[in-house]
Amino acid sequence: MKKISAGLLFCAWVNVYAYHNPSEVLKQIHQNKAVGKGVYDTFCGVCHEPDPQIQVGAPRRGIKSDWYERTRHQSLNTILKNVDEGINNMPARGGCFECTDEDLLAATRYLMGVCSHKT
Ligand code: HEC
Repeated sequence: MKKISAGLLFCAWVNVYAYHNPSEVLKQIHQNKAVGKGVYDTFCGVCHEPDPQIQVGAPRRGIKSDWYERTRHQSLNTILKNVDEGINNMPARGGCFECTDEDLLAATRYLMGVCSHKT
């Protein structure tokens, strides 16, 4: 019994630790090949998944119609500028201030479905 609760405590600690140490999490993501997916899953998916935990009207991953107007009227550069600076309910840099520009580009490409298998 003691062992189990110690294990649970440890898991809780790891989760809290990871949450408060984005740079540690990013370090782990960078060791992985799928950086775009890793960054996206960790920092963006809460708002951008098709059935998001946080519902603020973000364009959803894999839903083409959510992206149609955005990609029709804006260049990828403008979209990336909005990711960098934030727009309406979208926080600047998706809230990941430890992310490099490359991390954000990879995550954006994954989100918008224009990723190659490398990102
Ligand atoms: C707190 C919720 C939230 C998080 C976290 C978040 N986004 Fe967003 N995002 C939004 C919302 C809402 C919009 C729509 C903004 C608008 O156009 O009104 C948006 C829009 C976007 C767009 C489209 C921008 C455009 O110009 O049309 C991209 C690309 C994007 N987000 C990428 C990301 C990436 C990459 C991350 C993670 C690093 C991320 N977002 C994290 C809420 C979020």
